[in-house]
Amino acid sequence: MKLTSKSVALFPIIATVVTAAIGATLIAAPVANAATTLGAAAQQSGRYFGTAVAANKLGDSTYVGILNREFDMVTAENEMKMDATEPNQGQFSYGNADRIVNQARNQGKRVRGHALAWHSQQPGWMQNMSGTALRNAMLNHVTQVATYYRGKIYAWDVVNEAFADGSGGGRRDSNLQRTGNDWIEAAFRAARAADSGAKLCYNDYNTDDWSHAKTQGVYRMVQDFKSRGVPIDCVGFQSHFNSNSPVPSNYQTTLQNFANLGVDVQITELDIEGSGSSQAQNYQRVTQACLAVARCTGITVWGIRDTDSWRASGTPLLFDGSGNKKAAYNSTLDALNAGGGPGPTTTTTTTTTTTTSNGPGPGGCTATVSLNQWNEGFVATIKVTAGSSALSGWTVTTTLSNATVTGSWSANRSGTSGTVNWTNVDYNGNVPAGGSTEFGFQGSGNGSGLNPSCAAR
Ligand code: G3I
Repeated sequence: MKLTSKSVALFPIIATVVTAAIGATLIAAPVANAATTLGAAAQQSGRYFGTAVAANKLGDSTYVGILNREFDMVTAENEMKMDATEPNQGQFSYGNADRIVNQARNQGKRVRGHALAWHSQQPGWMQNMSGTALRNAMLNHVTQVATYYRGKIYAWDVVNEAFADGSGGGRRDSNLQRTGNDWIEAAFRAARAADSGAKLCYNDYNTDDWSHAKTQGVYRMVQDFKSRGVPIDCVGFQSHFNSNSPVPSNYQTTLQNFANLGVDVQITELDIEGSGSSQAQNYQRVTQACLAVARCTGITVWGIRDTDSWRASGTPLLFDGSGNKKAAYNSTLDALNAGGGPGPTTTTTTTTTTTTSNGPGPGGCTATVSLNQWNEGFVATIKVTAGSSALSGWTVTTTLSNATVTGSWSANRSGTSGTVNWTNVDYNGNVPAGGSTEFGFQGSGNGSGLNPSCAAR
């Protein structure tokens, strides 16, 4: 028997039996006055439900019919990328992007802009550029495109995929990265200057699992941007899932921890390979994770029908090749209509922020810790503040009784557990009187009771 949203609404008893058969986590309860489209269901909680759109499919009536009916946010799949909008340097081309933007806006839908700066899909002229010329060309591109679309874009992916995969948690090498580590913040400042009304997002993939180094690297960048006033409003989680990259059990934790930095989070390119009830359950978990995070403002799937997908063979979308609703559609719609839920994890995760402070040490400095704790681990950010005289170096001592450091930044450390001493690195030893600097670390276990103390050196 096929589980449809309609059957759930009409036959709750049957639905309960079916639900029990395909997995305990699928939503069984009928929802009074349930919305019948994804966009309308998401709007009930103030969120959106969007899709990627390809300009060359806007003549396909099945495609456009589903688009107009179901979605209230649109992302151009390829048409706003650098190679599409500036094919020759200084010559901008908006024809296909405009077709998508106009179609969406005529239908009362909003638009996510994707993407202003990226190492990939650069036009040929840009691919071989470097140094100041490339930096200026990139900034001009950001300025021109964001200005052209000013007032029409809900959120821009200002920078896409700038972090490397693997264990380091650092930046991806690219011609843009080689112009200097500040290229990302420069792009964000240019975008803000061009369109102060659009939300400005950093967007990436493989950043869904909180324990991954790449996730932590992006987190630290966003934390740094927020602390220094770099204009960033949101973080996009592409969320391309398959058996090699499944929906992580800590997905909601990841979304919540980023949101706790003071940014919106958005699921920007969702697709989940698979079929049937397992795919339906995964879509439900992702949807519930977003609904459980107040600052998760919406979900975008990366295409409409399976045959529209960049991973068509994995049938990762909500409609089959004929435009029929799949089980994953129904579980997503039902999750949206339920307006929340217990969240996707089997374990309870909590995020707490505590601040502990010790008095000035001999050289007159204070250390405070902001702790972000979840089930399996934590991120601690330690702020070192100089007293009435400037510091030329500092040592912070922490106690890790039930925890082990797994990674750290902006400080040298003496060990990974027990009493750990942290000393400044080259660039953050000089702190003016009354000024402050930060370093941080991630760890496994319980990070409470760090009790930091600070001394000048
Ligand atoms: O339009 C040409 C066509 O004329 C030509 O015959 C054909 C030959 O290969 O290529 C067509 O262009 C392709 C284009 O998609 C449109 O279908 C490009 O080769 C192909 O590279 C391009 O792939 C896009 C990919 O980004 C490029 O990086 C996918 O459609 C698009 O879904 C995908 O989207 C990315 C996001 O931007 C960022 N995150 C990952 C996501 C999936 O890869």
